Amino acid sequence: MSKISASRLLKMKQEQQKITCITAYDASFASLFDQVGIQVLLIGDSLGMVLQGHDSTLPVTIDDICYHTRAVKAGAEKALVIADLPFMTYSSPEQTYASSAQLMRAGAHMVKLEGGQWLTETITGLTQRGVPVCGHLGLTPQSVNVFGGYKVQGRGEAQAEQLLQDALALETAGIQLLVLECVPVPVAEKITQALSIPVIGIGAGNVTDGQILVMHDAFGISAGFCPKFSKNFLTETGDIRKAVALYKSQVESGEFPAQEHSFY
Ligand code: KIV
Ligand code: NA
Repeated sequence: MSKISASRLLKMKQEQQKITCITAYDASFASLFDQVGIQVLLIGDSLGMVLQGHDSTLPVTIDDICYHTRAVKAGAEKALVIADLPFMTYSSPEQTYASSAQLMRAGAHMVKLEGGQWLTETITGLTQRGVPVCGHLGLTPQSVNVFGGYKVQGRGEAQAEQLLQDALALETAGIQLLVLECVPVPVAEKITQALSIPVIGIGAGNVTDGQILVMHDAFGISAGFCPKFSKNFLTETGDIRKAVALYKSQVESGEFPAQEHSFY
């Protein structure tokens, strides 16, 4: 299989083939995920929690993401590599261009940022300058202090409509992929159908064009805590390679996420 591009992911949506994504932070896991055929590897700022032990993603710096992006890039042959822009590294278009240049030089193929309509000018500017962009809506963890906790977003008619309008605005601005986190299934379904670009869900039901999980959650590593939307694929398989293959096949069949992993 040749390298995964954004246009390949678009074609997968059009052909109703599910896209499987996972976070990665080092070369060894990146290589394993790549060999199993995972299409997208995300160097998520979730590393602030699962690698650094913080209680949010806010302490993560651009240098942290660059370090792990270089490692993931070294292990990934075919997968599309996406790097998160950390908290407060994309406050203005100019700052975003500088931050994104660092991520792209570290090996990212695409950058991801959290937020809606306020980002449209930035997204268009990035795309014009050669930086593909992935959006992130719903529960955007960098805004945890505004939300007052990690809560399902898009509940109620007005909030759901706002999410849809944000998604459409981001698509018009130029994003090539959208992550939708912790939203009710009917809202995720509506947004997935309204957008031409692929929508990747986490806690958004099996109605999106693909799924993403934090790798530590997929293996049940975070002691004593597994988010409702996640699943430990290691218990059934007892082998990391087989666990990743099971995750991918259950995403493709629609078996994961099941109702028990979804919000309504
Ligand atoms: O940081 C991260 O791992 C993410 C995914 C959960 C989408 O943004
Ligand atoms: Na993130």
